[in-house]
Amino acid sequence: METIWIEKDALAEAASLLKKGEVVTFPTETVYGLGADATNETAVKKVYEAKNRPADNPLIIHVASIDQARAYAQEVPEKAEKIMAAFWPGPCTIVLKKQGPLAATVTAGLDTVGIRMPNHPIALELIRLTGKPLAAPSANSSGKPSPTSAAHVAHDLNGKIAGIVEGGETGVGLESTVLDLSDPSQPTILRPGGVSQEEIEAVIGPVRFKTNVGHQSEIPTAPGMKYTHYAPVEPVMIVSEKGLGWKKAIEIAQGKGEVVGLLAFDHTIRQYADEQTISFSLGENGDVISASQRLFKGLRYFEDTEATIILAEPVERAGIGEAYMNRLEKSAASTFI
Ligand code: TXA
Ligand code: MG
Repeated sequence: METIWIEKDALAEAASLLKKGEVVTFPTETVYGLGADATNETAVKKVYEAKNRPADNPLIIHVASIDQARAYAQEVPEKAEKIMAAFWPGPCTIVLKKQGPLAATVTAGLDTVGIRMPNHPIALELIRLTGKPLAAPSANSSGKPSPTSAAHVAHDLNGKIAGIVEGGETGVGLESTVLDLSDPSQPTILRPGGVSQEEIEAVIGPVRFKTNVGHQSEIPTAPGMKYTHYAPVEPVMIVSEKGLGWKKAIEIAQGKGEVVGLLAFDHTIRQYADEQTISFSLGENGDVISASQRLFKGLRYFEDTEATIILAEPVERAGIGEAYMNRLEKSAASTFI
């Protein structure tokens, strides 16, 4: 199939493809999404095929307003009302009991549905023009880092989808927080993301955090899948100063004949890069917002270099740092050195 590129001022063309049941990728404030009409079973199946996504991992639906969300939730509990008022449009997906004419495959047979209103003018306009909620997972091949630019999407999916809406680089850089409110007495974060646990708790009180228990953040996940999430071609190791430290880690890797890629803050790169290393900056020392924006781009960057191993820098687990560490650990299969 020929994949066409669509400029952001030609969204009617993208909407018309979506209405015909085709799959089109579009930018959101988090990462690019691989969109299909969520009420069209054939269209949604094409999404699973294009990304090679396991059929038991449900998609989230994207809406253009809170009212549109109500049409697909059996009930909207008070805590969900508060979350929508506080964070929509924005990077917080809410899981609620589902209702309405959604394609069964969207929710992978569950009786709940993940809903989010993205904070991006192109995404919102495209949903409005299509007139339907858009089911959209991240627009990467399953297992690869999520795409933060249209070029990343094309790298993974060119020839497999009808269209790519070009919308520049995404802002947050990591996917939305997934907050399960299907049982409002037990609000649970299934995946940390752009809205932090602290921010959520300030609005609705205590929430559980289930993400590291059996890799719940990607439930339901096929066994073995956990080691290939967000993974570039090269193995990733997280370098902890409490562990080996940068100097030793680089020495050992180079001693084994590896070409080292450094995915680190400027300050670390200045200290440890040498002629044999290849580096990609996460930004100013300790800038977690910038590190989150650049993480997936950095993981992909090394694929086109000589690097045979990626040594990556951790951040403090606070705010969006929790989401950054969650993605980095999955890309690295939790390997700290
Ligand atoms: O920022 C984002 O959320 C991006 C952009 C494109 O909006 N989308 C995204 O979708 O990351 P995806 O499919 O890659 O991740 C959705 C996550 C998965 O971990 C999935 O298991 C979970 O949400 N999820 C979806 N529906 C669910 C449900 N009904 N119950 C529990 N988890 C659900
Ligand atoms: Mg994804």
